[in-house]
Amino acid sequence: MPRAKRIAILTAGGDCPGLNAVIRAVVRTAQNAYGWEVWGVADGMEGFLKPRNEGLRLLTRNDVSGTIAHGGTILGASNRCDIFAVPDARGTPQDRSDRVLAAMKRLRLDALICVGGDGTQSAAHRLLQRGVPIVGVPKTIDNDVRGTDRSFGFDTVIGVVGEAIGRLYTTAQSHHRVMLCEVMGRDTGWIALHGGLASGAEAILIPEIPYDPDRLARKVQARMEHGKRFSVVVVSEGARSAGGPMTYRTDDDDRLGGVSFRIAAELRERTVLEVRHIVLGHIQRGGSPSPYDRVLASRMGEHAVQLIHAGAFGQMVALRGEKMTSYPIELAAQGPRRVPPRGPLVAQARALGATFAAADGSDDAAADARHLHGAP
Ligand code: F6P
Repeated sequence: MPRAKRIAILTAGGDCPGLNAVIRAVVRTAQNAYGWEVWGVADGMEGFLKPRNEGLRLLTRNDVSGTIAHGGTILGASNRCDIFAVPDARGTPQDRSDRVLAAMKRLRLDALICVGGDGTQSAAHRLLQRGVPIVGVPKTIDNDVRGTDRSFGFDTVIGVVGEAIGRLYTTAQSHHRVMLCEVMGRDTGWIALHGGLASGAEAILIPEIPYDPDRLARKVQARMEHGKRFSVVVVSEGARSAGGPMTYRTDDDDRLGGVSFRIAAELRERTVLEVRHIVLGHIQRGGSPSPYDRVLASRMGEHAVQLIHAGAFGQMVALRGEKMTSYPIELAAQGPRRVPPRGPLVAQARALGATFAAADGSDDAAADARHLHGAP
């Protein structure tokens, strides 16, 4: 009789609501359907760097029991570790991918499930080329992994953003202010776009559509002049004006953040309006996953085990429409999936009256005219 398989799972990159639901689904499916063992790798790929397999542990049914609704990850995560460029004592990057191969051999692991975003899947693809049998699961609150229509975590984040913006409207209306809400998303504007649509925001600024500060100011000023004495603007952290740079946190030049400070100043220079801004930050990523994300993450975890059973290594789980499917990991390694500036969602937001304050004038001229001359 062939030996029951042993598989491993890691969660790399930033934490994301639904990670525990994936781990739980993998452990339960592997045990229930096939009688396999599942090993958990601590802190993303970093777990492979610990001596004597200390970064890996057998996951029992008890470990995952009751975790479906818990945010974060019971395995820990890291978005700093590139296994192909681990700094040595002198800070010189060294390829440590041999550690993964060695651990897989020592523990007689038959497959590794990498749950992560495009950076993690890029490393997974390279490990695959080195002979590690890998299956990927896309993970990101940003919803920008190529190949899948949806990543778990995104629905939860939109819920948080929608709720937060709803609260901002209260003050915006009472005090006749412009409220800016800066949301995450890195190089892509999916969170801002969906968050803006979900809350009926007057303007949405995303990295894919560079904005013009004058246009934005005209929009909020025109609303004021036509009796709508408040505006809410959703700002993606990667938003930038035409030709302008993205804004990085002052304490960490690798991480985006703070663009809403600048936009608030631009609006104050151009209007007489009272402007406030808030940065939602990691509040967005924390807490319990939404029921939708629990279901999606569970389906993805189950499907990953089925791919291993089928020997479909080098594949990444994906949701296309309502169907769970898979595609080659290398597609995800090609960088983020961006919001198409001429796509249907942008057009719908414009049809509903939101502006992107597009510097190239791509906001529908008729809609702009309505905002300027008629009811907003
Ligand atoms: O990719 C997820 C994400 O939350 C981005 O939206 C954001 O730019 C980044 O991670 C924040 O990273 P960190 O948790 O390292 O500050």
